[in-house]
Amino acid sequence: MGSPDFTDRLTATATETEALLERLLDGAALPGETARPKRLLEAMRSGALGGGKRIRPVLVVETAALFGVARSGALLAGAALELVHCYSLVHDDLPAMDDDDLRRGKPTVHRAFDEATAILAGDALLTLAFDVMARDEVHADAKVRIALVRELARASGLGGMAGGQMLDLAAEGRFEPRRALTESEIVTLQAMKTGALIRFACDAGAILGEADMAARASIARYGAAIGQAFQIADDLLDVEGDSALLGKAAGKDAAAGKATLVAILGVNAARARLDALIADADAALAPFGAKADILRAAARFIADRKS
Ligand code: IPE
Ligand code: IPE
Ligand code: MG
Ligand code: MG
Ligand code: MG
Repeated sequence: MGSPDFTDRLTATATETEALLERLLDGAALPGETARPKRLLEAMRSGALGGGKRIRPVLVVETAALFGVARSGALLAGAALELVHCYSLVHDDLPAMDDDDLRRGKPTVHRAFDEATAILAGDALLTLAFDVMARDEVHADAKVRIALVRELARASGLGGMAGGQMLDLAAEGRFEPRRALTESEIVTLQAMKTGALIRFACDAGAILGEADMAARASIARYGAAIGQAFQIADDLLDVEGDSALLGKAAGKDAAAGKATLVAILGVNAARARLDALIADADAALAPFGAKADILRAAARFIADRKS
């Protein structure tokens, strides 16, 4: 049996995720909502639909599958996580943050609309994510859903993605005179700004599958390794990648003074680090044997990706 083709699985999950997001972002107000203002809805749709690799949803679905979880609940949990990710990109691109004009091959939300609308679109994508994660269709057991909501909140907020974004901007020297970060400070920053949501994707699969503590720990180790790998790959693509293929501007991190491992270690050492992380991800999956081959393929995809 050959190793499963990760790109086929990714394409299938991306298609289903797109359909789910399309449904979640339709014009009909939900019970408890009063109305869905058209401009805000259009901006949210621009930030969430029609692009994106949907890596985080596929990690939720494939980790959940390892524990025998039905696909439909995992897909909805993955869509909830993707809403947080899309919000993070809308805000990351704002003039006050990375100031980018292109995302997923299209104008960024603040360019297509305006800054205030982009801020609100991000806010509303984030809150919709928690609405979706709490829905009965995610899992029959409310305790499981509460665990997902709590872990997603922690991965997204002060001690996770938002906190990491704060450290990322601070490292540019915006608030205090610039000081070169140590390697371990950069690892922490990246574990928060990017690693937290990637790791949550994997943890979510194990939570949905009500996995035991040992399995949860193995998945957390796998998630932490690929989360770190994901941002190193992103930073390498900023240096070596092609803007047309990436669908976003390349070559901006050095000029902005971003704290990256590529900047302090160089391209070759960063690539070696990436390989070591993929080996660690592989090792973390040892208890699952060949059943986890699709997750091994996911790790390699993250390291080798060109966009
Ligand atoms: C980009 O994430 C932002 C980072 C966390 C590095 P992705 O590379 O997953 O972006 P999309 O969703 O595919 O556009
Ligand atoms: C993004 O890191 C991290 C989050 C959006 C949380 P980057 O700023 O490097 O992502 P890109 O390169 O703009 O996609
Ligand atoms: Mg950024
Ligand atoms: Mg950015
Ligand atoms: Mg980047």
